[in-house]
Amino acid sequence: MFRGTGCACATLPLSPWLSGRAVKLAKKSAPFAFDVVILGSGAAGLSVALDLPSHLSVAVLSKQAVGGSTPWAQGGIAAVVESTDSLESHVQDTLVAGAGLCNEAAVRHAIEAGEDSINWLVEQGTHFDESDGKFHLTREGGHSHRRVLHATDATGAEIYRALVEQAHARSNLRFFDQRVAVDLIVDKSLPVNERRVTGVYAYHLKKDRVQTFAAKAVVLATGGASKVYFYTSNPSGASGDGIAMAYRAGCRVANMEFNQFHPTCLRHPDAKTFLISEAIRGEGGRLTLPDGEPFMQRHDPRGELAPRDVVARAIDFEMKRLGAEHLYLDISHKPKSFIENHFPTIMQRCAQYGIEIDKQPIPVVPAAHYTCGGVLVDHQGATDVAGLYAVGEVSYTGLHGANRLASNSLLECIVWGRGAARHIGESDLPEIDLARYTPWDETQVTDSDEDVVVSHCWDEARRFMWDYVGIVRTDKRLLRALHRVEMLQSEIEEFYSNYRVSGNLLELRNLVQVAELMVRCALERKESRGLHYSLDYPESTETGTPTIISPRP
Ligand code: FAD
Ligand code: SIN
Repeated sequence: MFRGTGCACATLPLSPWLSGRAVKLAKKSAPFAFDVVILGSGAAGLSVALDLPSHLSVAVLSKQAVGGSTPWAQGGIAAVVESTDSLESHVQDTLVAGAGLCNEAAVRHAIEAGEDSINWLVEQGTHFDESDGKFHLTREGGHSHRRVLHATDATGAEIYRALVEQAHARSNLRFFDQRVAVDLIVDKSLPVNERRVTGVYAYHLKKDRVQTFAAKAVVLATGGASKVYFYTSNPSGASGDGIAMAYRAGCRVANMEFNQFHPTCLRHPDAKTFLISEAIRGEGGRLTLPDGEPFMQRHDPRGELAPRDVVARAIDFEMKRLGAEHLYLDISHKPKSFIENHFPTIMQRCAQYGIEIDKQPIPVVPAAHYTCGGVLVDHQGATDVAGLYAVGEVSYTGLHGANRLASNSLLECIVWGRGAARHIGESDLPEIDLARYTPWDETQVTDSDEDVVVSHCWDEARRFMWDYVGIVRTDKRLLRALHRVEMLQSEIEEFYSNYRVSGNLLELRNLVQVAELMVRCALERKESRGLHYSLDYPESTETGTPTIISPRP
């Protein structure tokens, strides 16, 4: 079977057992053509879209009309906006949280653009909470000052609302939801440094067919990959698609071993994935054992406000020591009115599960939250392939090092999103020649009658990643995970080659690709640092370096 890649690739032979079976012909439709195609409509994708020059035609593709992590972001966005704080302090906090692995130039690039990014968000219509005529600033782990701007405990929803409203008013932007990008169109017969992206194939979830989007530049803003773990704070869709697609197109990826576990997600049998914001600890919330005893000081003098890797490991340690299914986060000592004003979303959601957070502690566990590694990019978000950009959680900019400082992610989305838009606007974009596009070909594939296998593979991958590539690792567990990844990859390849694609299959293919990258990066790191903790190598080496994985030739 041949899946179009825009190049003269060899056609794979038809699997012998397929002969004689019904083969559905794909409906061929003319490609869409845009100056820029942006994959993802979260904070990163929308920042690019809104800052691109208005003479460029732009398509914004996404899986759902409202999706991704952005609308779920709670705590806020970190920036230095007060004279009692300083850029240097924010830089140092980021470097300390990043455990010696941040790229200092990238850190300064982001943090120096902090106030400008906030002003831009306000210009777009974002309302941050204020008190006494100034922004109200909350605090989160690893920050030595109050510097987190927020909209109660639903900051992402407010930023998202404002950006979407602006974007829908722009006549040069066209939105295509229900699309799952399948692969980037690049000529893989060329060496990577001569490749240029010319578009993307995207599967239409409702129409059940693959469409071609031709483009002069493509921006990956597809978010992270925390869905690779069984327990996660992330919404569905965070399957690392952009990382997998970029890697397949020839881009390097970096630091995939550093997946951040948020210390406090709600533990309740009916709550799928609900985060309990770090801002609760920033405002005085205490972590306790089941008997009510606080324990964080035993693990770190910074207590509840130590960086996330430290807090998540401490909770993991105490849970394993006590055989407990969860620990507790307690804010009930604060007045009810304070909790209602600062944390209305969390209060309401917990109440749905019968937990009254002004009266009782909240049961919490760590869960996979943020992908610190990703597609390697420069300060403009440019990747190794010409015309291809990656911004937001999909990317590795060097800002987060071995552990992201709380609320630096939304900032990164805005800074790199706007930077990529500027760079694309200033570039000479090549013309599109539609005659050169190979349509997606489904003449040699059939409908799958075994979708249950796909859902079992999903489940299996996420469970072994949780068990073997979690908060505490060993080489033995990592090798077990790699073995399972390889077995799944061969099954998925067979599915992908022989059957028509589906949303689940495409996500699974990417998720397992990302799992492979995470395990390979983790195996390469012979030390413990930040979010990567190995019982085999418990110490940090003197000078850590990023783990960079180049695609196989
Ligand atoms: P996302 O917002 O995740 O958007 C990804 C987009 O890509 C979506 O539109 C999706 O549909 C689309 N997409 C994905 N794959 C494909 C595909 N194959 N084809 C087409 N489209 C695709 N960070 C902070 O700084 N502060 C916080 O307070 C904060 N709180 C958080 C709370 C929660 C519960 C979570 C989950 C995360 C939080 N984060 C926070 C992290 C932050 O929200 C994310 O890192 C950030 O929003 C990522 O934005 P993004 O634009 O890169 O991706
Ligand atoms: C939170 O509110 O705890 C999430 C903040 C973040 O992920 O940066």
